[in-house]
Amino acid sequence: MSDTEIAVICHEASLTHQAEQIANQLSCPYLGVITSTQLTIPNLVIEVTGDGVVLAETGKKSTNPVRVDFVTGALAHRRKYGGGKNQAIAKAVGLNKVKKLQVLDATAGLGRDAFVLASLGCQVTLLERSKVVHLLLADGLNRAAIDVDVASIVNQLQLLCIDAKDYLQELLGLADQFDVVYLDPMFPHREKSAKVKKEMRIFQQLLGQDLDADYLLDAAIAIAKYRVVVKRPKLAPYLADKAPTYQLTGKSGRFDVYVNKAFGS
Ligand SMILES: C[S@@+](CC[C@H](N)C(=O)[O-])C[C@H]1O[C@@H](n2cnc3c(N)ncnc32)[C@H](O)[C@@H]1O
Repeated sequence: MSDTEIAVICHEASLTHQAEQIANQLSCPYLGVITSTQLTIPNLVIEVTGDGVVLAETGKKSTNPVRVDFVTGALAHRRKYGGGKNQAIAKAVGLNKVKKLQVLDATAGLGRDAFVLASLGCQVTLLERSKVVHLLLADGLNRAAIDVDVASIVNQLQLLCIDAKDYLQELLGLADQFDVVYLDPMFPHREKSAKVKKEMRIFQQLLGQDLDADYLLDAAIAIAKYRVVVKRPKLAPYLADKAPTYQLTGKSGRFDVYVNKAFGS
């Protein structure tokens, strides 16, 4: 639930000031101009590179650091060829029924799902409680904001560094702020792709499991105007042992949909 021990390093002397500021922000040590492969302690480091901020394992096997990239790679491919509103996530939030939705993504992570929803027309508020994950995501959003192809999409994303339990509590008295609340808490994954496996391992080292995730469901149901969508691995139990109104199966898992009321009613 809380970030594990971490330090900040940078690739070149010109990035020292930025790296020191980040270390300050995260209240962790700055270890200087060095690479993650040259270190063995701590297990994870934030590396400030000329091309953004990454989270990496230390040691000789340090490869595939975690970096948020909305512009190229898998997310660019999905934006162009991902199936638009026919994707399970789009149907799960209700984009097959209405064109625009205000979505609260209460477990932002690396912002991939939120980016997909924004690219399909949603306005998304993202909540992330880990300062490290928030840093990676904010860095990815800043880089994307100056790219002509994705700037208009990331403009529809608003990121806050806060625990969703506190945020949802504050929303309780305020009706209908969000049409849909989206939840995707950490769960032990068994992914096939080596890259995803490695990324999940780094993420699980950093965050562990979200053991308090069950508490989010009732609070989310209490504030969502239309529905709550919970992303789960295919065989995972229901969040808070609560059966959804219905389920949709996607490529990498399933979506449990808890309906408060039908769109348009
Ligand atoms: C599995 S990841 C989400 C991945 C995300 N859906 C994506 O597409 O990149 C779960 C994230 O939710 C965050 N999280 C879990 N519980 C939270 C809470 N109560 N408040 C805010 N963030 C939370 C974790 O720190 C983690 O970064």
